[in-house]
Amino acid sequence: MTGIARSKTLDRVLVLEMVRVTEAAAIGASKLIGRGDEKAADAAAVEAMRAALNELAMDGTVVIGEGERDEAPMLYIGEKVGSAIGTGPKIDIALDPLEGTTITAKAGPNALAVLAVADEGNLLNAPDVYMDKLAVGPGYPEGIIDLAKSPTENVRAVAAAKGVEPHEIIVCVLDRPRHADLIAELRGLGCGVVLIGDGDVAGVIAVTDPETTIDLYMGQGGAPEGVLAAAALRCVGGQFNGRLVFRNEDERARAHKWGIEDLSKIYKLDELAKGDCIFAATGVTDGSLLDGVKRLAGGKMTTSSVVMRASSGTVRWVQGEHRNKN
Ligand code: FBP
Repeated sequence: MTGIARSKTLDRVLVLEMVRVTEAAAIGASKLIGRGDEKAADAAAVEAMRAALNELAMDGTVVIGEGERDEAPMLYIGEKVGSAIGTGPKIDIALDPLEGTTITAKAGPNALAVLAVADEGNLLNAPDVYMDKLAVGPGYPEGIIDLAKSPTENVRAVAAAKGVEPHEIIVCVLDRPRHADLIAELRGLGCGVVLIGDGDVAGVIAVTDPETTIDLYMGQGGAPEGVLAAAALRCVGGQFNGRLVFRNEDERARAHKWGIEDLSKIYKLDELAKGDCIFAATGVTDGSLLDGVKRLAGGKMTTSSVVMRASSGTVRWVQGEHRNKN
């Protein structure tokens, strides 16, 4: 992307090293694909990602992770990672070692190992609450989507800009009872609604890939996943609106603890992931973005990853062949 200053700190962290980290997590989780055990799959990914992060010469802080310290033994929010704590470059890390635990347990599509890194202070420290999300791919005028407007208004705006009728617009939505009204409204317009069972990081990124034919992403998913998806869109283009959703006093209190004052704010891309940032993902199971880990005969494994950088707009697709791993 033009106009984003290149971060020297991230240069020192080495963009491609991030792929090693997501590869390790994906390989760790892959042993548990289809085994019906979400917790074990997540634990394997977490353990492998943490070990790989701790090999990097950085002073890293997990700002979006597996949860708060008392609920996550590893990769908790605030945990320091890296082999140069106190001396190395200070970077913030948003991570989801296994985005799609249920998918992995059931061997469904689109499970990923994901992380985003940025200079200290540049990623929104989102509490683990829901977020209303609205995303569109690159090439549209800035402000074409607006979460303050209705789904119908957003579909009509995108259809008009694309030069098609609203019924030709395809929208990706998480298949959840809470989205019944949204899905009915979209179907009322005649839109194609692509329902996904889980994995809205991949769902949001799908709007940036013309091959998916998905124009818009709409609906509520996890706020941490929203920050991760926003980091990816910062690199490849597209627009994103996110608004935190608080279901009770406890969630509101957690937001205040995180320093979030305006609870109804609509966040744009660069308020979720500022400045230069790097996004990396490795497929755990096959999906629209990446192929999953393949465990082949003779202990060989293949992985499929992507690493992107906001300041350069570079997107690197990395195919890995691994031997002698478990
Ligand atoms: P997990 O990997 O933590 O299971 O998250 C999967 C996911 O589908 C996310 O992609 C999404 O943001 C969130 O869950 C939606 O939450 P819920 O399942 O509560 O609707």
